[in-house]
Amino acid sequence: MKEKHKLLNDTVTKAGSAICTGITMENGIVIYRSKYGSAKKYAHWIAQKTGFFCMEAANCCFGTTKPGMETPTAYNTVIFCGGIYASGISGLSLLRKHYPKLRGKRLAIFCVGASPYSQKALGEIRTHNLKGELADIPLFYGRGAWNEKAMSFKDRTLCRILKKAVAKTPLDAQEPWMRALLCASGQECDWTDEKYLDGLMEFLHIHRL
Ligand SMILES: Cc1cc2nc3c(=O)[nH]c(=O)nc-3n(C[C@H](O)[C@H](O)[C@H](O)COP(=O)(O)O)c2cc1C
Repeated sequence: MKEKHKLLNDTVTKAGSAICTGITMENGIVIYRSKYGSAKKYAHWIAQKTGFFCMEAANCCFGTTKPGMETPTAYNTVIFCGGIYASGISGLSLLRKHYPKLRGKRLAIFCVGASPYSQKALGEIRTHNLKGELADIPLFYGRGAWNEKAMSFKDRTLCRILKKAVAKTPLDAQEPWMRALLCASGQECDWTDEKYLDGLMEFLHIHRL
């Protein structure tokens, strides 16, 4: 079992570096918004694997360049990376607002949540966040972390309310994210893993500029 796991990891690493050499010459930027660090971690992993520039959403400007700020419109590939909060992807307002300036570029979104990966759940996140002309932007998912001790008072309170509501849902009607929420309750969990970047790396490799 251990050997099988190692083999899988080796394959992933090799595939990752092969992809990396294929795209390092392209110019791209990873823009992230992260409250508790998981989306930031994924953004830096993406930057490491691709050679793309990495910048916090707060330091990006779409108008006149200011000192210390980065202009995403100067890049051919723009990847948005953000944590999921109450089904909304953090930082996506920036993409929505400035989409006309990014049209024609290679765009992708990498969202980070506490739920285990599920195609159905990702479909719902897409419907909720990507409407109109954003509907076709490729969307990828990575599992983040959960630590109630590190949460703000407001977030902890929100989670408590959510947990109470979820606990009343009959077992057979519970969605995977509901079970994950109850499971993680009171625990410190970190599910971040570079393996979640495989889909995005494959997309960047296949859809080369
Ligand atoms: C108030 C609150 C709401 C959340 N809502 C969701 C959610 O709807 N779906 C989900 O998968 N994870 C949800 N999470 C978990 C976060 O997405 C997860 O902790 C993620 O790692 C946060 O990313 P960040 O560390 O970059 O901020 C929520 C967390 C908090 C505190």
